[in-house]
This record gives sequence, C-alpha cells and structure tokens, in this order.
Amino acid sequence: MDVKTIMVIGAGQMGSGIAQVCAMAGYDVFLHDISQQQLDKGLANIEKLLSRQVEKGKLTEEEKEATLSRLTPSTDLQNAAKADLVIEAVVENMDVKTKLFAQLDEIAPPHTILATNTSSLPITEIASATKRPEKVIGMHFMNPVPVMKLVEIIRGLATADEVYETIEAITRKLNKVPVEVNDFPGFISNRVLMPMINEAIYALYEGVATKEAIDEVMKLGMNHPMGPLTLADFIGLDTCLYIMETLHEGFGDDKYRPCPLLRKYVKAGWLGRKTGRGFYTYD
Ligand code: NAI
Repeated sequence: MDVKTIMVIGAGQMGSGIAQVCAMAGYDVFLHDISQQQLDKGLANIEKLLSRQVEKGKLTEEEKEATLSRLTPSTDLQNAAKADLVIEAVVENMDVKTKLFAQLDEIAPPHTILATNTSSLPITEIASATKRPEKVIGMHFMNPVPVMKLVEIIRGLATADEVYETIEAITRKLNKVPVEVNDFPGFISNRVLMPMINEAIYALYEGVATKEAIDEVMKLGMNHPMGPLTLADFIGLDTCLYIMETLHEGFGDDKYRPCPLLRKYVKAGWLGRKTGRGFYTYD
C-alpha cells in the first residue's frame, strides 16, 4: 500500500513528535488538533527540536527547512480526506477515541489506514467504531518520539496482513524498530511498566519513603535511567491514570487498582511536566 500523506491527530507531546519523525522521513504531514493553542505549541516544539539538531550538526539548515515545509497545521478534520494514513494521538480515553474514529471513517477515503497511538486501550474496540476494522491498527510510539527506537505494533482482531506489513515498513522508514504485540490491555510496554509506577506511587502514599528516595532506589539500585515518579511526571499523570484504569477494567484484577494519590493529583490538575507540577515542580 502506497502511503504519501499522513495526518497526525493531537499535537500534544506524542502527536508533535510523531509528526516530526514522519516529516523527517519525507512524508507530507497534516498535524491536527482541536486546540489552536496546542497546535502552535506543538509546531514551536518541533521547530525548537530541529534547530537543536542543526546546532549539533546532526541536520543541515536545508533539511530542517524541508522538514518544516512538509508539515501543514490543521484544525479542520476534513483534511483526513487527503490522508493515506491517519495516526491518532489524542487523550487516552475510549469515548474520545471511538467518536473520532467514527468521524474519520466517514471522512477518509476507503484505502486510508487508521492507526492509533493508544498506550493501553484495546485496538479491536476502537476498530469496532468504524466500518473498516481491517484497516485499523495500533502504532504505539514511545516518549520522546524523536529519540526512542521502539514502536509496538498491535493488530486488532480484524487487522489485515497487508495493513500490518504496510505499518511495519513505514515504522522502519521512520528509522524505528517495530515489535509485534497482541491486543491485550496495556500491550507489553504498559502492562509491565505502569504497575511498577503505580506501586511507586503507593509507596509514597503509604510513607515508605520520600519521592526522591523512591526514585534514587530505582535509579541506582535497578539501573533505571529515570526514577518511576520522575517518569510518571514525564508521561503525564492523567495518561498514567487512564492506563491503570484500562488494566484494572480489562483484567478485573485488584492488583491494577490505581493508587488514590494518583487520582488526587490528576483531580488537582497536577499532571506532571506538561502542567509544570506533578510529583515534582518544573519551570
Ligand atoms: P497530550 O495531553 O500531550 O496531547 C493530547 C492532545 O490531543 C492535546 O493537544 C489535545 O488538544 C488533543 N485533542 C484532544 N481531543 C482531541 C480531538 N478530539 N481531536 C483532536 N485533538 C484532540 O497527550 P500525549 O501524552 O501526547 O498522549 C496522546 C496519546 O498518546 C494518548 O493516547 C497516550 O496514551 C498516548 N501515549 C502517550 C505517551 C506518553 O508518554 N505521554 C507514550 C505513548 C503513547
């Protein structure tokens, strides 16, 4: 399947990174968001990251300009009519995603593949909101997208082999490594990672140690590059909570119960780095 134009939906932390790597790989990209402010922020972030690459000598000024020229901002979902592949990266919420996929199914041409960057939600359920479940697939990038090599690729129950192969080939073209995973809540990455983060939050909640101590133990003791609470702030505490809720609901096992402290922080709007405050504070 020939893919030339990609539409990335959601210009947040993940969507802007995905749009950047797609444009760098030579695809024409629409970066779409419902919020003009988020769109401006996402594009400014891409420009900043590309300029940094130029300063480091990893990219020429011409390559930077060519990448930016392939990016078109969008607040009109009708642009999906021009896309061969849509990669959705909006908030981790099943209602929001299914509504969006139903709309995309109406707007996008029949050949268009609809991929989701969901961290944990079942691909099969998202696909069922469309009349083309064979063209719906999970394409789970890691944060920060321009740096991290892995893309978890998740087939829904109905995903066609041809669609899987196309997405695998595109992932390699983006200079990333595809790994195939079956469609179960949290896939592999977040099924393993998120309960560890949740347990670290429980340890803080129960007063077992300070946040700094918890992070230090996991960094120095387990050789993790970042402590779990720092990582949670980096991912976004709202996203962490959504993922724990998906695991809890999907497996029905209480070992996945989100920590009350995580709920409290999300209710307070302390979502981590992106809002300037989570377990830690940021400028
Ligand atoms: P974010 O909160 O930074 O960005 C979400 C963006 O979606 C916002 O700009 C918002 O305005 C936009 N949006 C919301 N509803 C929309 C709609 N109906 N149409 C268009 N735009 C809409 O969130 P983030 O961190 O980028 O996460 C996005 C997705 O990526 C989630 O599904 C998340 O689970 C997944 N993900 C997140 C990772 C992380 O480390 N944060 C890692 C891998 C996947």
